[in-house]
Amino acid sequence: MTDSLLTLSGVHTHIGQYHILQGVDLEVPRGGLSVLLGRNGAGKTTTLRTIMGLWKASAGSITFDGRAIAALPTPDIARAGVAYVPESMAVFSDLTVRENLYLAARSGPMDTARLEWIFEFFPALKKFWNYPAGNLSGGQKQMVAIARAIVEPRALLLVDEPTKGLAPAIVQSLIEAFRQLKQTNTTVLLVEQNFNFVKQLGDTVSVMDDGRIVHAGRMAELAEDRDLQQRLLGLSLDAHQ
Ligand SMILES: Nc1ncnc2c1ncn2[C@@H]1O[C@H](COP(=O)(O)OP(=O)(O)OP(=O)(O)O)[C@@H](O)[C@H]1O
Ligand SMILES: [Mg+2]
Repeated sequence: MTDSLLTLSGVHTHIGQYHILQGVDLEVPRGGLSVLLGRNGAGKTTTLRTIMGLWKASAGSITFDGRAIAALPTPDIARAGVAYVPESMAVFSDLTVRENLYLAARSGPMDTARLEWIFEFFPALKKFWNYPAGNLSGGQKQMVAIARAIVEPRALLLVDEPTKGLAPAIVQSLIEAFRQLKQTNTTVLLVEQNFNFVKQLGDTVSVMDDGRIVHAGRMAELAEDRDLQQRLLGLSLDAHQ
């Protein structure tokens, strides 16, 4: 049996009167990169927000590192080792890159060696270290947002559509960054719509539709199976050459 760091089992989430997650079962193996795919409105962001405690699951269980977390407040979930990079590239625009990272280092001063490691794959952060983050390009802001989440080691990193709106060259540097992260002990749950991006990175993949997981397996299998891609993702045969 695979050792899961995070397990969602029968998770339901209501937002107001809407029943959004309708029994989500999801396994995130320890030390791997898991991808969550699905069309717009499938419930991917809601799943991440529910894991983070930003929406409360109305039924089901969420187990992180052997501990039931569904009822915990968000700060406790963060303290337990879960980091979340939301869709919107959350950075403090008026603060410098340095200040953005400084604020994210909760347990004390930033670790210099770790910063150097982050600069290796996000050199723009070093270059713009003392610039207001609001002046950076979309891709660079995304790098600041990811760097904020990993400025200290975290057990689990939740990332929502990091490639949205980014130029191919920037996407390439994000691939490199996630490859680097995979060398560390960080487990990643990555929400994406860019199949080309995640097929190179994912160990496992789950596909959502209408608030449920409709497929779960190894990414290598899905990457090779055009029929399955077509059925699950509606990808045309040559859309992802
Ligand atoms: N704050 C909210 N209030 C009401 N409905 C919401 C809210 N947030 C999300 N929803 C609904 O929940 C469903 C799932 O949304 P969610 O944002 O989780 O989808 P997603 O898979 O992340 O989509 P996308 O790929 O477009 O980001 C959608 O039908 C959406 O309209
Ligand atoms: Mg979303």
